[in-house]
Amino acid sequence: MSVVDEVKSRLDIVEYIQRFVPIKKSGRTFKACCPFHSEDTPSFHVDPDRQSWHCFGACATGGDIFAFAMRYHNWTFREALEELAKLAGVETKPQKPERLAQEARLERLRGVIAAAVDYYHACLVEASDEGAQYARFYAHEKRGLSDETLRAFKIGLAPLGWTNAVDALRELGYADDDLLAAGIAGRSEKSSRLYDLFRGRLMIPIHDERGRAVGFGGRALDPEEKAKYINTPQTPIFNKSHLLFGLDRAARSIRQHDQAVIVEGYMDVIQAHQAGYMNVVAQMGTALTEHQLKLLVPRCTRRIVLALDSDAAGQSATRRSLEVAREALRADYSSRLSVELRVLELPNAKDPDDFIRETPQAWADLVKGAVTVADYVIEMETRRIPPDASVQQREMAARALIPLLMAAENTLYRQENVQKLALRLRLPERELMRIAADLQRQPARARAPDQRARSMPPTLDDLPPISPGEHSPAQLDLNAPLRSADAVDASGVETECLRRLLRQPDLYYHITRKFNQIISGIADGEAHLIQQMLGEFSAEDFHSATYRAIMLVFREALRQDKLTYHAYLRQQLDGAILRELDLLMLDQWQELEPRLAALRADLQPSLMKTARQRAPLESSEVIIELALLLRERRLRAQFEALKYLVSQGGEDAAMIANWAKQVRQTGMVLHRIQVERERQKSI
Ligand code: UTP
Ligand code: MN
Repeated sequence: MSVVDEVKSRLDIVEYIQRFVPIKKSGRTFKACCPFHSEDTPSFHVDPDRQSWHCFGACATGGDIFAFAMRYHNWTFREALEELAKLAGVETKPQKPERLAQEARLERLRGVIAAAVDYYHACLVEASDEGAQYARFYAHEKRGLSDETLRAFKIGLAPLGWTNAVDALRELGYADDDLLAAGIAGRSEKSSRLYDLFRGRLMIPIHDERGRAVGFGGRALDPEEKAKYINTPQTPIFNKSHLLFGLDRAARSIRQHDQAVIVEGYMDVIQAHQAGYMNVVAQMGTALTEHQLKLLVPRCTRRIVLALDSDAAGQSATRRSLEVAREALRADYSSRLSVELRVLELPNAKDPDDFIRETPQAWADLVKGAVTVADYVIEMETRRIPPDASVQQREMAARALIPLLMAAENTLYRQENVQKLALRLRLPERELMRIAADLQRQPARARAPDQRARSMPPTLDDLPPISPGEHSPAQLDLNAPLRSADAVDASGVETECLRRLLRQPDLYYHITRKFNQIISGIADGEAHLIQQMLGEFSAEDFHSATYRAIMLVFREALRQDKLTYHAYLRQQLDGAILRELDLLMLDQWQELEPRLAALRADLQPSLMKTARQRAPLESSEVIIELALLLRERRLRAQFEALKYLVSQGGEDAAMIANWAKQVRQTGMVLHRIQVERERQKSI
């Protein structure tokens, strides 16, 4: 039994979820309003028999206790495993020593920052000297911050003087090296003594997405001071371009409203939260980075509003942020990063901080009125074209704009955007459509070679070498009787699917593409739910707890860019699961064979076909077929669960009607999958 199985067998999902969500018993299952989106009628169900949860509302997704914990706490699989194992009293395999040492160092630096947060906060709220009095006056009167806000954000004061923080932290036992490495202190070149990096500043703690304090932004209190803000320098735990200020406090609200508002500065976030607008985060003065985008999408939301300052700098920051988003989208094979980007224009060159302080109620309408990127870009860029510009000049402007309009948005809007642009530039729409089509046909590589190379999905080259001859699908006896050895994957489909995926991870994107293709063209008002049904291929498509764990880490591996794909998998997995991974990745045939022997006969033709071709890279047909089989099984279970819910009835007619509609929709998607599988077979 793997650690994952062990943990699952010892924890009860109902009991666990109850700690965070007020679920109530209702018939065989438990239900509550979904913690992952905002709703009034409970569509979040927890099934004690299956030990699973599912949201039958807008999320249309679910999973086991791991999936819940990861989503709810924003944990990686590894983190969820460690936390849940602790709770279950299960030992996880000790980590490799170098990794433990590295993790211990980071933990120590976080300890320094956490202690500094407490120290600075005490300096602000407890001290009675003149400096502290002025800082409190500044925070209250000049910035309009309440005591509650100061407490919630743990805002502090770095007193004047050279060694206040250094002294206080040494007193607490922190080593000089750690004070330096955490970016709290510097070392004087002359005297080689330590000194405080932050002096005479209002200290704003910055947390990572999991709520751990990792650094500070320090606002000058002296208006004569040249540097308005000083931030923690880059450290092993602080990288400004990988962080969104306020995300730890905003994540829940962002999920619930399915919308994130990105502002420029610390004060904008603090002010917004104080006014009750909790879905606001800051990119901290730099242009939005791909990393920051990935913190939000798709984990929290796909709907993003940029509320950058309306001065010239803000406008160019907006444009640069859009560029980044566009690059990220273009290099995104799986359309995982597809987003709805809107831009909010602040009136009268104010920043959100000023605006919210003056008219807090008006902020909601401002956000509602945010315009699409396309509208914003068209407006900004055509504003400076003189009315008497020649056709050539106007066409040049169009050529510059079309790529931005093409990439940043949903296909549905593309044509509409081009129409708007045509109208605005007084050019024939047909002409612009032709330019757009040309640009789309051009390989992306020709336009952005470096971007493309960086984000290429990993290939077999990332894997350890495989000894020749071992990999031969011909060894599969496809007609062997079904074995019950591994009841969870009796058909062998899970094993075969994961095996292929692990060995050639870019196949994952073929699955996504096929899923997208199957549902494309469904112009239903409820397209969102249907999209979820054929959403990304994931752990929930597998029944084996071990395979689920591997799948979770597999997707994390594709998403991260710190380690190679293969190194990441090995770093995150250990024990029995790592052994499974090796079986699958290194094709330990003798051991896998019994599991694969039962692979259904109707898969035989396509398997044999690839066996015959023996191309170095397998075609995508087989993986698509396997993935479709697994998704079909998952949707069938969903279909049955929904039918059960409908049959149970209840007082809420609207909800029953909604479920009945979902039954129909699931049926339709299942049908489409079957048609697609037939089609694949006949190729
Ligand atoms: P702003 O200059 O718009 O700051 O920079 P602000 O938040 O409106 O500042 P106040 O209201 O005058 O206090 C926006 C963000 O850019 C970063 C900070 O993250 C700031 O919140 N910034 C700005 C710096 O890092 N350093 C600077 O010197 C200035
Ligand atoms: Mn400001």
